[in-house]
Amino acid sequence: MILNTASISDTETSPSNAQTNNSTPKQITLARPDDWHIHLRDGNSLNTTVAHAAQSFNRVICMPNLVPPVKTAIEAQAYRDRIMQALEHANIDDRYKLTFNPRMTLYLTDTTTAEDIKLAAQSGVVQAVKLYPAGATTNSADGVTNLASRHEVFSAMQKYELPLLIHGEVTDSHVDIFDREKQFIDTTLSSLVSQFPELKIVVEHITTGDAADFVLSQNERVAATITPQHLLFNRNHLLVGGVKPHFYCLPILKRKQHQQVLLDVATSGNPKFFLGTDSAPHATHAKENACGCAGCYSASIALPLYATAFDSVGKINRLEGFASQFGAKFYGLPLIDERITLVNEPMQVPSSYPYLGQETLTPLMAGETLPWSIKLES
Ligand code: DOR
Ligand code: ZN
Repeated sequence: MILNTASISDTETSPSNAQTNNSTPKQITLARPDDWHIHLRDGNSLNTTVAHAAQSFNRVICMPNLVPPVKTAIEAQAYRDRIMQALEHANIDDRYKLTFNPRMTLYLTDTTTAEDIKLAAQSGVVQAVKLYPAGATTNSADGVTNLASRHEVFSAMQKYELPLLIHGEVTDSHVDIFDREKQFIDTTLSSLVSQFPELKIVVEHITTGDAADFVLSQNERVAATITPQHLLFNRNHLLVGGVKPHFYCLPILKRKQHQQVLLDVATSGNPKFFLGTDSAPHATHAKENACGCAGCYSASIALPLYATAFDSVGKINRLEGFASQFGAKFYGLPLIDERITLVNEPMQVPSSYPYLGQETLTPLMAGETLPWSIKLES
């Protein structure tokens, strides 16, 4: 499959404002983007994931769902050190080694204290705290079981201006998997936002029009990240014609109508919506399995994927705000001077990457052709 506007909407209707090919610019140059939500994992995984992330991004917010999770500022610093060590050994241009800047997160548990939050805020490396409802997704078993018991911690985050990043899904087994994000907004997120009006919140990897509407209805302290897969695909891509495990992530891909709303808000120029790939590596055999893991690996091709999505609705000119400016603004970080150029020239996505010595890692769109690529610098 060649991924273009037609194939994005191949199972449904085309976006109404799709631009014709002859109005697509040949290339765009933008400030080097940041990824505000990425999973790099740990140990030997870092030999693959860090090089991919550093070639596309300046800052990345590293998710803390390791085994065991990253729970304190000291653990976050040690994890960052391991990432930087992997960067040193990466077979990539030195310029990426100089600029790549991993920002760390703490994993909120039932035992996180206000003191942990204070130390994290003072550490200089912890950018935010991640809330996984226990059982919601990969490595979330140590997540929060009772939000009401975490009030002191949320107050401390508010006080020390440490944002809360939320995996917004309920975990009750009786709730339909396609309704879990909306239920979380209705039953949990709305009241959290009213109880902590000064707390900065990012609703991570939103997947529904309901989540987009919720974020739009709040003040500038509430924002959202959007992944490339939720902009480009819907549940038909996952399920029609056979189950496609490499499209399986959590929150799960939703209906075409939700995909369209996400495309609308991502390309609207509204700074509440910014780039977060949720690139989440799992070895190929763990994805292509009777009980396949959730997560799409996109770090190496995320920028061509986002460019394809924005171009599909004639809004490539809005990519820089989404990818390189709005997240920095939300986190109060400086804009990046370094530039990167994306060209409207096809690239073939590798069928897999070497991973963990003997394993392979299959990226999203493995073996397929994308219409946009990253221009190689001379
Ligand atoms: O699909 C997902 N994979 N969603 C998450 O929230 C976690 C991630 C992972 O760590 O694999
Ligand atoms: Zn994630």
